Amino acid sequence: MDHFGFKKGEIYAEDLAVGEIAEQVGTPFYCYSTETLIRHYNVFCQAFTGHDFLLCYAVKANSNQAIIKTLADQGSGADVVSEGELRRALEAGISASKIVYSGVAKTEKEMAFALGQDIFQFNVESEPELIQLSRVATDMGKVAAISFRINPDVDAKTHAKISTGMSENKFGIPWTRAREIYADAAKLPGIRVQGVDLHIGSQLTDLEPFAEAFRRIVTLVEDLRSDGHDISVLDLGGGLGIPYDREETKPPLPLEYGEMVKSIVGHLGCRIIIEPGRLLVGNAGILVSKVIFVKQGEDRKFLIIDAAMNDLVRPSMYNAYHEIVAVRESDTPTVPYDVVGPVCETGDTFARGRQLPELNSGDLVVIRSAGAYGAVMSSTYNTRRLIPEVLVKGADYAITRARPDYEDIIGLDKIPQWLQ
Ligand code: LLP
Repeated sequence: MDHFGFKKGEIYAEDLAVGEIAEQVGTPFYCYSTETLIRHYNVFCQAFTGHDFLLCYAVKANSNQAIIKTLADQGSGADVVSEGELRRALEAGISASKIVYSGVAKTEKEMAFALGQDIFQFNVESEPELIQLSRVATDMGKVAAISFRINPDVDAKTHAKISTGMSENKFGIPWTRAREIYADAAKLPGIRVQGVDLHIGSQLTDLEPFAEAFRRIVTLVEDLRSDGHDISVLDLGGGLGIPYDREETKPPLPLEYGEMVKSIVGHLGCRIIIEPGRLLVGNAGILVSKVIFVKQGEDRKFLIIDAAMNDLVRPSMYNAYHEIVAVRESDTPTVPYDVVGPVCETGDTFARGRQLPELNSGDLVVIRSAGAYGAVMSSTYNTRRLIPEVLVKGADYAITRARPDYEDIIGLDKIPQWLQ
């Protein structure tokens, strides 16, 4: 459930008319709902009531300081994958003791920074990474608490580009070699093995791949314990999907997911960490855009809006479906539109043949479920400015990232002396 709905004939974000924000902020912009975010956080935590549990928000989904701070205030930890994300999490007030550092290859500098902060855990993904971490930690007189990310060779049955748990994927260490690698780690200075980690993919709409991977992990933990390792942490990654198309897809509820997790791994007595990203922020955000032109092609009608693939790349990159809704309610018959942006690529298409009421230049539309992997994946392609982000709370809103000036973008380039 989210807090973007129709009131008085138009879409509201909580208690604010989206049209009114658009008038003040200009379009396009991302709009997030505090209530929705907090609700998703609480629903997820409730699914693990009674268990030693830490939610580590996957900052990559939406790393705006205001979003992280809203979750930090609820008690959230963070899953980060770069020094930049780690800095963002710390700056938003997440304690280092609640931060796990994932990612397929951390540099020496990144390791040193994280060790200096005394983060809760490194999720190590390879032997070279382990050896480097041991060296950096020893040089600093520190001990890195680690889990290995296990690649369980399970098909997450999601889009190939966001599927990470099969042996052909670059992630983690093969589960078949895990015992040997844990044994090596136990002998290394500067390393303290504390757990097991995995993440098999994103936007999973079925519990079975999770369950299959978690069962594999249970066997592994039992083996590791019998080898003498003290395994007290299970980081089970993120990945639970959301209903982008509310008519079609009904992913499992967090409560069902929590029951499944507890029934499979509960008896191990480990602290459970989950790293959800999309589930918390995906439906807590919309992209608000204005129709520039309506263009009648040979046999298709194009709705050209002022948002484009550089603002929200998911449809172009993953063929992702996002609901598109006219901001003003209308009872006129719908017509099929190809909803496109102004960027010079045919791939700059949000939807084809989408049924919408008759729209005109200046009308507003909302692209739903845009809170996760939206703003964070945006770019300035076509020298388009990054778009503002706005956080709504009740009848208040704040701009949490302003629209930059053109000078801010062009000024990043420097003319070499020989051209001056
Ligand atoms: N933990 C790790 C180690 C991850 O790599 C990810 C996402 C998550 C947690 C959070 O997964 P979530 O709960 O959000 O599914 N850009 C793509 C999604 C990429 C996901 C990358 N890893 C998209 O727009 O669909």
